Amino acid sequence: MIYLADTADIDELKKLFYYFPLEGITTNPTIIAQAGKKLSVIMPELIEVVQDKMLHVQMISSRAEDMLREAKAYKAKYGLGDNYYAKIPVTEEGYKAMPMIKEAGINVTATAIFTQQQALVAARAGADWVAPYVNRLDNISSHGIEVVGNIVENIERFNLPTKVLAASFKTVDQVHRVSMMGSQAATVNFEILERLRSHPMTDMSVEWFEKDADGLYDIDF
Ligand code: E4P
Repeated sequence: MIYLADTADIDELKKLFYYFPLEGITTNPTIIAQAGKKLSVIMPELIEVVQDKMLHVQMISSRAEDMLREAKAYKAKYGLGDNYYAKIPVTEEGYKAMPMIKEAGINVTATAIFTQQQALVAARAGADWVAPYVNRLDNISSHGIEVVGNIVENIERFNLPTKVLAASFKTVDQVHRVSMMGSQAATVNFEILERLRSHPMTDMSVEWFEKDADGLYDIDF
């Protein structure tokens, strides 16, 4: 499973890209609102930080034809390449837009997925990635992890090229469990990414190593 950062906060992204083996970033209107900047301001900053890694940008249009125009407009305005993914919610218009956007040579990420069948329909509509919302499912007494597992199985069963980008996490354990289900990717916020890569025992062990090495490591480097 690969990791993406589910944030548009430039300071968080700079910190993460400094050390974390990220494969890209995902955004949606809520994430852009949290970053507190207009899209025209934040897009160049995101492009600079993400470089050739994946950049998933959510379309806000509600009609299929407008989603296509929007996806094309971002691509043209910022000269985006193959690392750009137009995120399309799985509405009636969204499903209609997916093959149109693919036809225009733009990658598609189907988003706001809550059921196995929504994911399968999006895969059939040509989505490159499908993004099931794990924590939002768990929050309504459903089973996000199980939904992700079923989607992974179905995609394999029917030999589809679509991949699973699990989204919406509130705990490290949810991220771990989707990896055990075979999700190809997880998009995770800053706080959970920092938590999942660290452990107090690691810090303590490094402290002990440093104490033990004192005065003994005398080879220049
Ligand atoms: C991904 O791109 C989703 O939009 C995002 O993970 C949703 O997360 P949330 O449920 O924490 O808002």
